[in-house]
Amino acid sequence: MSPIQEVIINKKTSINPIWIMRQAGRYLPEFREIRAKNPDFIKLCLNHKLSSEITLQPLKRYNFDAAIIFSDILMVPYGLNQKVEFKKNFGPLLGDLNLDKASSMQENKFTERLKPVYKALEIVSNNNLTSNKSTIGFVGAPWTLMVYMINKQSPKLKLKKNFFDDELLINKILLILEKFLKIHIKCQVDNGAQIIQIFDSWAGLLDVKDFSKYIYNPTLSLVEFTKSLNVPVICFPKGIKNYKNYCEIINPDAICIDYEVDPLQANKDIKIPIQGGMDPKVLLTDKENLKKEAKRYLDIFKDHPYIFNLGHGVLPETDPNMMDYLVKIVKDY
Ligand code: CP3
Repeated sequence: MSPIQEVIINKKTSINPIWIMRQAGRYLPEFREIRAKNPDFIKLCLNHKLSSEITLQPLKRYNFDAAIIFSDILMVPYGLNQKVEFKKNFGPLLGDLNLDKASSMQENKFTERLKPVYKALEIVSNNNLTSNKSTIGFVGAPWTLMVYMINKQSPKLKLKKNFFDDELLINKILLILEKFLKIHIKCQVDNGAQIIQIFDSWAGLLDVKDFSKYIYNPTLSLVEFTKSLNVPVICFPKGIKNYKNYCEIINPDAICIDYEVDPLQANKDIKIPIQGGMDPKVLLTDKENLKKEAKRYLDIFKDHPYIFNLGHGVLPETDPNMMDYLVKIVKDY
């Protein structure tokens, strides 16, 4: 078993494996070099040679315990025939959603469109760099994907007033997503993903009264499906206030906490393995502070099954040497 599986499945507390959200990304000069020559981000995700190479880049530099496949949660709307672009200094920009096209999508058409993602997973999981490590696949949670599909760009601090107006549309999108996210999870698992992480980046935008419909019910369905494949699932409901409730209702195999969660409280409240938490901005400070902060998390969770990670993705302006130092701190702990 790999160290991350030991923590998640066997609840081991004597080791603290580490991987980092967005570990293959813009803070690495070798990524920026490939990216500069590949201005179309979707095309890059669909180039299995390059996306597998990018996935392995951080493992060549650092002793991380997992590879996370270089792809994006928005590859699923792309697979459903919605146009997706990534604009420089803006982020994702989606085209209008054609519901008829999406709901009539054939399963084999969808998997054909995303085939390079599965091919890249196969390459990565068979590479020597991932032996005794975990290969992580992922999906966006239905709620977060629906936000992108309707809003067509990242929401800022809140949703537009009329977001929930078309209930029929919302219900249909949720059903389509539930179906195709399961297909996407299954294909990733069949091609080498040993763990699935579900990213719900916009969970924090919802009122608690709407949690059951948009977060709990659809996420629970994905979590149970993934468990039925015998694959552990990690959930990351970024920005919610009550992680304890979430864990009790969803019961994933592990929970990833964001940087606003008080780790002391989480350690008391949460009974399942925990991942993440440290603010990515800590990596922009100095070594002394980095050591202090990383140790704070390691100390708090020393008797809890804990996977070191950040409380959101690593920032592009991070110095790669600081990441090196962080891995050393965690490994020497
Ligand atoms: O973690 C990894 O290394 C694996 C790859 C990965 C990416 N995106 C690559 C990426 C993963 C797991 C994601 C998930 C993702 N994508 C989320 C959930 C996690 C989170 O950050 O909240 C979301 C909301 C997206 C959608 C998305 N993709 C946005 C909003 C953006 C633009 C903002 C940004 O960070 O640049 C992207 C682009 C993106 N996805 C990049 C990478 C490496 C940057 C692309 C570039 O080089 O310009």
